[in-house]
Amino acid sequence: MERGTQPAPSGELLEFATAAAIGLTDTPRWLPSQYLYDAQGSALFEEITRQPEYYPTRTEAAILRAAAAEIRTLTGPVTLIELGSGSSEKTSLLLSAFGDAPGEVRYVPVDVSDAAIAAARQRVAADHPDVEFAGLVGRYEEAFPLFREHSPAMVLFLGSTIGNFNHAESLRFWRSMSRHLAAGDHFLLGVDLVKEREVLEAAYNDAAGVTARFTRNLFVRMNRELAAGIDVTQIEHTARYHEAWQRIEIFARFRTAQRIALGPLGLTVDVDAGELIMTEISRKFVLEHLKAYLDVFGFDVRHAFTDDRKWFAVLLLRHRGGR
Ligand code: SAH
Ligand code: AVI
Repeated sequence: MERGTQPAPSGELLEFATAAAIGLTDTPRWLPSQYLYDAQGSALFEEITRQPEYYPTRTEAAILRAAAAEIRTLTGPVTLIELGSGSSEKTSLLLSAFGDAPGEVRYVPVDVSDAAIAAARQRVAADHPDVEFAGLVGRYEEAFPLFREHSPAMVLFLGSTIGNFNHAESLRFWRSMSRHLAAGDHFLLGVDLVKEREVLEAAYNDAAGVTARFTRNLFVRMNRELAAGIDVTQIEHTARYHEAWQRIEIFARFRTAQRIALGPLGLTVDVDAGELIMTEISRKFVLEHLKAYLDVFGFDVRHAFTDDRKWFAVLLLRHRGGR
Protein backbone atom coordinates (compact mmCIF):
# COMPACT_ATOMS: atom_id res chain seq x y z
CA MET A 1 0.00 0.00 0.00
CA GLU A 2 1.29 3.43 -0.83
CA ARG A 3 1.15 5.81 2.09
CA GLY A 4 0.51 8.67 -0.31
CA THR A 5 -2.87 7.22 -1.28
CA GLN A 6 -4.06 6.92 2.32
CA PRO A 7 -6.00 9.63 4.12
CA ALA A 8 -4.00 11.40 6.86
CA PRO A 9 -4.41 9.56 10.18
CA SER A 10 -6.33 11.38 12.89
CA GLY A 11 -4.60 12.51 16.08
CA GLU A 12 -6.46 9.77 17.97
CA LEU A 13 -5.19 7.07 15.64
CA LEU A 14 -1.64 8.38 15.94
CA GLU A 15 -1.98 8.25 19.71
CA PHE A 16 -3.29 4.67 19.57
CA ALA A 17 -0.46 3.61 17.22
CA THR A 18 2.14 5.36 19.37
CA ALA A 19 0.84 3.82 22.59
CA ALA A 20 0.84 0.38 20.91
CA ALA A 21 4.39 0.91 19.59
CA ILE A 22 5.66 1.86 23.07
CA GLY A 23 4.04 -1.17 24.70
CA LEU A 24 4.85 -3.71 21.99
CA THR A 25 8.55 -2.81 21.93
CA ASP A 26 8.85 -2.99 25.73
CA THR A 27 9.95 -6.10 27.66
CA PRO A 28 7.65 -7.78 28.52
CA ARG A 29 5.25 -6.52 25.87
CA TRP A 30 2.00 -4.78 26.84
CA LEU A 31 -0.85 -2.71 25.39
CA PRO A 32 -2.74 0.11 27.15
CA SER A 33 -6.01 -1.23 28.54
CA GLN A 34 -8.05 1.88 27.71
CA TYR A 35 -8.16 0.67 24.07
CA LEU A 36 -10.14 -2.42 25.12
CA TYR A 37 -13.24 -0.19 25.16
CA ASP A 38 -14.48 0.48 21.65
CA ALA A 39 -18.23 -0.08 21.09
CA GLN A 40 -17.75 -3.85 20.87
CA GLY A 41 -15.42 -3.87 23.90
CA SER A 42 -17.94 -1.93 26.00
CA ALA A 43 -20.67 -4.42 25.00
CA LEU A 44 -18.40 -7.35 25.86
CA PHE A 45 -17.56 -5.82 29.24
CA GLU A 46 -21.28 -5.58 29.98
CA GLU A 47 -21.58 -9.27 29.06
CA ILE A 48 -18.66 -10.09 31.40
CA THR A 49 -20.51 -8.43 34.28
CA ARG A 50 -23.37 -10.90 33.76
CA GLN A 51 -21.19 -14.04 33.86
CA PRO A 52 -21.69 -16.22 36.95
CA GLU A 53 -17.96 -16.19 37.78
CA TYR A 54 -17.62 -12.39 37.61
CA TYR A 55 -18.76 -11.49 41.13
CA PRO A 56 -17.51 -7.83 41.37
CA THR A 57 -20.42 -6.10 39.61
CA ARG A 58 -23.25 -7.87 41.40
CA THR A 59 -21.45 -7.64 44.76
CA GLU A 60 -20.86 -3.91 44.36
CA ALA A 61 -24.44 -3.37 43.16
CA ALA A 62 -25.78 -5.05 46.33
CA ILE A 63 -23.51 -2.88 48.49
CA LEU A 64 -24.65 0.29 46.69
CA ARG A 65 -28.32 -0.67 46.89
CA ALA A 66 -28.04 -1.08 50.67
CA ALA A 67 -25.84 2.00 51.20
CA ALA A 68 -27.33 4.57 48.80
CA ALA A 69 -29.54 6.39 51.32
CA GLU A 70 -26.77 6.55 53.92
CA ILE A 71 -24.30 7.87 51.35
CA ARG A 72 -26.77 10.63 50.45
CA THR A 73 -27.21 11.51 54.13
CA LEU A 74 -23.44 11.71 54.64
CA THR A 75 -22.66 13.82 51.56
CA GLY A 76 -25.71 16.09 51.37
CA PRO A 77 -26.62 17.39 47.91
CA VAL A 78 -23.69 17.04 45.49
CA THR A 79 -23.04 16.86 41.75
CA LEU A 80 -22.15 13.27 40.83
CA ILE A 81 -19.14 13.04 38.52
CA GLU A 82 -18.38 9.49 37.45
CA LEU A 83 -15.07 8.40 35.93
CA GLY A 84 -15.23 5.39 33.58
CA SER A 85 -18.99 5.27 33.97
CA GLY A 86 -19.66 2.50 31.41
CA SER A 87 -23.38 1.74 31.22
CA SER A 88 -24.11 3.66 34.50
CA GLU A 89 -26.27 0.74 35.57
CA LYS A 90 -25.03 0.68 39.19
CA THR A 91 -25.03 4.47 39.40
CA SER A 92 -28.73 4.37 38.71
CA LEU A 93 -29.12 2.93 42.24
CA LEU A 94 -27.45 6.03 43.67
CA LEU A 95 -29.32 8.49 41.47
CA SER A 96 -32.56 7.24 43.01
CA ALA A 97 -31.30 8.13 46.48
CA PHE A 98 -29.99 11.54 45.48
CA GLY A 99 -33.42 12.96 44.65
CA ASP A 100 -36.03 13.07 41.96
CA ALA A 101 -37.20 16.67 41.79
CA PRO A 102 -36.48 18.30 38.41
CA GLY A 103 -32.96 19.77 38.38
CA GLU A 104 -32.18 18.46 41.88
CA VAL A 105 -29.47 16.04 40.73
CA ARG A 106 -26.72 16.71 38.20
CA TYR A 107 -24.84 13.69 36.81
CA VAL A 108 -21.61 14.02 34.82
CA PRO A 109 -20.48 10.62 33.50
CA VAL A 110 -17.05 10.56 31.84
CA ASP A 111 -15.98 7.70 29.59
CA VAL A 112 -13.57 7.19 26.72
CA SER A 113 -16.19 5.02 25.01
CA ASP A 114 -18.80 7.06 23.11
CA ALA A 115 -21.00 3.95 22.96
CA ALA A 116 -20.95 3.78 26.78
CA ILE A 117 -21.98 7.44 27.17
CA ALA A 118 -24.76 7.02 24.59
CA ALA A 119 -26.11 3.95 26.45
CA ALA A 120 -25.87 5.79 29.79
CA ARG A 121 -27.77 8.77 28.38
CA GLN A 122 -30.62 6.48 27.29
CA ARG A 123 -30.70 4.65 30.62
CA VAL A 124 -30.76 7.84 32.70
CA ALA A 125 -33.40 9.49 30.48
CA ALA A 126 -35.63 6.44 30.89
CA ASP A 127 -35.08 5.77 34.61
CA HIS A 128 -34.38 9.27 35.98
CA PRO A 129 -35.93 11.80 33.59
CA ASP A 130 -35.41 14.66 36.09
CA VAL A 131 -31.67 14.13 36.47
CA GLU A 132 -29.58 16.69 34.60
CA PHE A 133 -27.26 14.58 32.42
CA ALA A 134 -24.01 16.17 31.21
CA GLY A 135 -22.00 13.26 29.74
CA LEU A 136 -18.42 13.72 28.56
CA VAL A 137 -16.71 11.43 26.04
CA GLY A 138 -13.04 11.59 26.93
CA ARG A 139 -10.24 10.42 29.16
CA TYR A 140 -10.43 10.70 32.90
CA GLU A 141 -8.01 13.63 33.05
CA GLU A 142 -10.17 15.70 30.72
CA ALA A 143 -12.77 15.85 33.51
CA PHE A 144 -10.42 16.89 36.32
CA PRO A 145 -10.67 20.65 35.61
CA LEU A 146 -14.47 20.37 35.95
CA PHE A 147 -14.33 19.27 39.58
CA ARG A 148 -14.05 22.76 41.10
CA GLU A 149 -16.85 24.23 39.04
CA HIS A 150 -19.16 21.40 40.17
CA SER A 151 -18.19 21.60 43.87
CA PRO A 152 -19.82 20.46 46.14
CA ALA A 153 -19.19 17.27 44.22
CA MET A 154 -18.76 13.57 44.67
CA VAL A 155 -16.47 11.82 42.21
CA LEU A 156 -17.43 8.19 41.64
CA PHE A 157 -14.92 5.58 40.51
CA LEU A 158 -16.71 2.27 40.70
CA GLY A 159 -16.20 -1.32 39.62
CA SER A 160 -12.61 -1.42 40.95
CA THR A 161 -11.49 0.30 37.75
CA ILE A 162 -8.78 1.90 39.95
CA GLY A 163 -7.31 -1.63 39.97
CA ASN A 164 -6.58 -1.34 36.26
CA PHE A 165 -3.93 1.30 37.09
CA ASN A 166 -0.38 0.25 37.86
CA HIS A 167 1.39 1.86 40.82
CA ALA A 168 2.79 4.80 38.85
CA GLU A 169 -0.60 5.54 37.28
CA SER A 170 -2.26 5.26 40.67
CA LEU A 171 0.13 7.74 42.25
CA ARG A 172 -0.44 10.25 39.43
CA PHE A 173 -4.19 9.74 39.66
CA TRP A 174 -4.45 10.37 43.42
CA ARG A 175 -2.14 13.38 43.21
CA SER A 176 -4.49 14.83 40.60
CA MET A 177 -7.55 14.05 42.73
CA SER A 178 -5.89 15.82 45.63
CA ARG A 179 -5.10 18.87 43.52
CA HIS A 180 -8.46 19.15 41.75
CA LEU A 181 -10.93 18.36 44.53
CA ALA A 182 -11.88 21.08 47.01
CA ALA A 183 -11.77 20.53 50.77
CA GLY A 184 -14.98 18.81 51.85
CA ASP A 185 -15.65 17.22 48.44
CA HIS A 186 -16.36 13.49 48.38
CA PHE A 187 -15.07 10.50 46.43
CA LEU A 188 -16.88 7.15 46.19
CA LEU A 189 -14.42 4.38 45.41
CA GLY A 190 -15.31 0.76 44.58
CA VAL A 191 -12.50 -1.74 45.19
CA ASP A 192 -12.19 -5.48 44.75
CA LEU A 193 -10.50 -7.09 47.76
CA VAL A 194 -7.77 -9.74 47.97
CA LYS A 195 -9.27 -13.23 48.19
CA GLU A 196 -8.57 -16.86 47.23
CA ARG A 197 -6.82 -17.39 43.92
CA GLU A 198 -9.52 -19.78 42.65
CA VAL A 199 -12.28 -17.19 42.95
CA LEU A 200 -10.17 -14.47 41.33
CA GLU A 201 -8.91 -16.57 38.44
CA ALA A 202 -12.38 -17.93 37.68
CA ALA A 203 -13.71 -14.36 37.41
CA TYR A 204 -11.23 -13.59 34.62
CA ASN A 205 -11.50 -16.97 32.86
CA ASP A 206 -15.27 -17.35 32.57
CA ALA A 207 -16.45 -20.67 31.17
CA ALA A 208 -18.43 -19.01 28.36
CA GLY A 209 -15.23 -17.38 27.07
CA VAL A 210 -16.56 -13.81 27.16
CA THR A 211 -13.41 -12.41 28.79
CA ALA A 212 -11.35 -14.16 26.11
CA ARG A 213 -13.44 -12.39 23.45
CA PHE A 214 -12.91 -9.11 25.30
CA THR A 215 -9.12 -9.61 25.16
CA ARG A 216 -9.22 -10.66 21.50
CA ASN A 217 -11.32 -7.64 20.59
CA LEU A 218 -8.37 -5.33 21.31
CA PHE A 219 -6.54 -6.95 18.40
CA VAL A 220 -9.64 -6.86 16.20
CA ARG A 221 -9.69 -3.12 16.89
CA MET A 222 -6.00 -2.84 15.99
CA ASN A 223 -6.72 -4.58 12.69
CA ARG A 224 -9.58 -2.21 11.93
CA GLU A 225 -8.04 1.07 13.07
CA LEU A 226 -4.32 0.50 12.57
CA ALA A 227 -4.42 -2.03 9.71
CA ALA A 228 -2.35 -4.26 12.02
CA GLY A 229 -2.86 -7.45 9.97
CA ILE A 230 -3.06 -9.75 13.02
CA ASP A 231 -4.49 -13.26 12.67
CA VAL A 232 -6.89 -12.98 15.62
CA THR A 233 -7.84 -16.67 15.37
CA GLN A 234 -4.35 -17.42 16.76
CA ILE A 235 -4.89 -15.54 20.03
CA GLU A 236 -5.26 -17.33 23.37
CA HIS A 237 -6.46 -15.43 26.44
CA THR A 238 -4.72 -16.14 29.72
CA ALA A 239 -5.47 -14.61 33.12
CA ARG A 240 -3.64 -15.54 36.30
CA TYR A 241 -3.31 -14.14 39.80
CA HIS A 242 0.11 -12.86 40.84
CA GLU A 243 -0.20 -13.36 44.58
CA ALA A 244 2.80 -11.31 45.70
CA TRP A 245 1.72 -8.34 43.59
CA GLN A 246 -1.95 -8.83 44.43
CA ARG A 247 -3.07 -8.51 40.87
CA ILE A 248 -4.71 -10.42 38.07
CA GLU A 249 -2.57 -10.27 34.94
CA ILE A 250 -4.26 -10.72 31.58
CA PHE A 251 -2.30 -11.64 28.49
CA ALA A 252 -2.83 -12.50 24.87
CA ARG A 253 -0.62 -15.31 23.59
CA PHE A 254 -0.20 -15.96 19.86
CA ARG A 255 -0.10 -19.60 18.73
CA THR A 256 1.83 -18.56 15.62
CA ALA A 257 4.36 -15.80 14.97
CA GLN A 258 2.82 -12.48 13.94
CA ARG A 259 4.04 -9.35 12.23
CA ILE A 260 2.01 -6.49 13.68
CA ALA A 261 1.82 -3.37 11.51
CA LEU A 262 1.20 -0.01 13.17
CA GLY A 263 -0.34 1.62 10.13
CA PRO A 264 -0.07 5.35 10.80
CA LEU A 265 3.56 5.00 11.96
CA GLY A 266 4.66 2.81 9.05
CA LEU A 267 6.30 0.40 11.54
CA THR A 268 6.03 -3.34 12.11
CA VAL A 269 6.70 -5.36 15.28
CA ASP A 270 7.48 -9.09 15.11
CA VAL A 271 6.05 -11.25 17.87
CA ASP A 272 7.15 -14.89 18.24
CA ALA A 273 4.80 -17.82 18.67
CA GLY A 274 4.05 -18.32 22.37
CA GLU A 275 5.01 -14.77 23.40
CA LEU A 276 2.78 -12.98 25.87
CA ILE A 277 1.38 -9.48 25.45
CA MET A 278 -0.12 -8.03 28.63
CA THR A 279 -3.44 -6.34 27.90
CA GLU A 280 -4.61 -5.56 31.44
CA ILE A 281 -3.86 -5.77 35.13
CA SER A 282 -6.55 -5.81 37.78
CA ARG A 283 -5.15 -5.07 41.22
CA LYS A 284 -6.85 -6.36 44.35
CA PHE A 285 -6.80 -4.45 47.61
CA VAL A 286 -6.38 -4.86 51.37
CA LEU A 287 -8.56 -2.27 53.09
CA GLU A 288 -6.12 -1.25 55.82
CA HIS A 289 -3.29 -0.68 53.32
CA LEU A 290 -5.56 1.25 51.00
CA LYS A 291 -6.85 3.53 53.78
CA ALA A 292 -3.27 4.39 54.80
CA TYR A 293 -2.40 5.06 51.14
CA LEU A 294 -5.39 7.37 50.61
CA ASP A 295 -4.60 9.26 53.79
CA VAL A 296 -1.32 10.39 52.20
CA PHE A 297 -3.35 12.20 49.52
CA GLY A 298 -5.59 13.92 52.06
CA PHE A 299 -8.58 11.55 51.92
CA ASP A 300 -10.39 10.45 55.08
CA VAL A 301 -12.62 7.38 54.99
CA ARG A 302 -16.05 8.43 56.25
CA HIS A 303 -17.50 4.97 55.79
CA ALA A 304 -16.37 1.64 54.35
CA PHE A 305 -19.34 -0.35 53.05
CA THR A 306 -18.73 -4.01 52.33
CA ASP A 307 -20.51 -7.35 51.78
CA ASP A 308 -20.78 -10.29 54.18
CA ARG A 309 -17.95 -12.21 52.48
CA LYS A 310 -15.70 -9.10 52.45
CA TRP A 311 -15.12 -9.60 48.73
CA PHE A 312 -15.66 -6.00 47.65
CA ALA A 313 -15.75 -2.59 49.34
CA VAL A 314 -17.20 0.81 48.56
CA LEU A 315 -15.35 3.59 50.39
CA LEU A 316 -16.89 6.99 50.95
CA LEU A 317 -13.93 9.37 51.14
CA ARG A 318 -13.84 13.05 52.00
CA HIS A 319 -11.02 15.30 50.92
CA ARG A 320 -9.35 17.23 53.71
CA GLY A 321 -7.96 19.67 51.13
CA GLY A 322 -4.78 21.60 51.35
CA ARG A 323 -2.59 19.42 49.09
N1 SAH B 1 -17.84 1.84 36.06
C1 SAH B 1 -18.45 0.77 35.29
C2 SAH B 1 -17.62 0.41 34.04
C3 SAH B 1 -16.27 -0.20 34.33
S1 SAH B 1 -15.45 -0.70 32.85
C4 SAH B 1 -18.66 -0.43 36.15
O1 SAH B 1 -18.26 -0.38 37.31
O2 SAH B 1 -19.21 -1.41 35.69
C5 SAH B 1 -14.25 0.59 32.73
C6 SAH B 1 -14.82 1.80 32.01
O3 SAH B 1 -13.79 2.80 32.00
C7 SAH B 1 -15.18 1.53 30.56
O4 SAH B 1 -16.46 2.00 30.27
C8 SAH B 1 -14.09 2.26 29.75
O5 SAH B 1 -14.57 2.73 28.51
C9 SAH B 1 -13.67 3.35 30.70
N2 SAH B 1 -12.27 3.78 30.54
C10 SAH B 1 -11.17 2.99 30.48
N3 SAH B 1 -10.04 3.75 30.40
C11 SAH B 1 -10.47 5.05 30.40
C12 SAH B 1 -9.78 6.30 30.36
N4 SAH B 1 -8.44 6.36 30.28
N5 SAH B 1 -10.52 7.44 30.41
C13 SAH B 1 -11.90 7.38 30.47
N6 SAH B 1 -12.60 6.22 30.51
C14 SAH B 1 -11.88 5.07 30.50
C1 AVI C 1 -13.15 -2.47 34.39
N1 AVI C 1 -12.35 -3.35 35.24
C2 AVI C 1 -12.51 -3.00 36.65
C3 AVI C 1 -12.51 -4.78 34.97
C4 AVI C 1 -11.69 -5.60 35.99
O1 AVI C 1 -12.27 -6.48 36.62
O2 AVI C 1 -10.50 -5.32 36.15
C5 AVI C 1 -12.09 -5.11 33.55
C6 AVI C 1 -12.14 -6.57 33.23
N2 AVI C 1 -11.30 -7.18 32.45
C7 AVI C 1 -11.62 -8.44 32.34
N3 AVI C 1 -12.67 -8.67 33.06
C8 AVI C 1 -13.05 -7.50 33.63
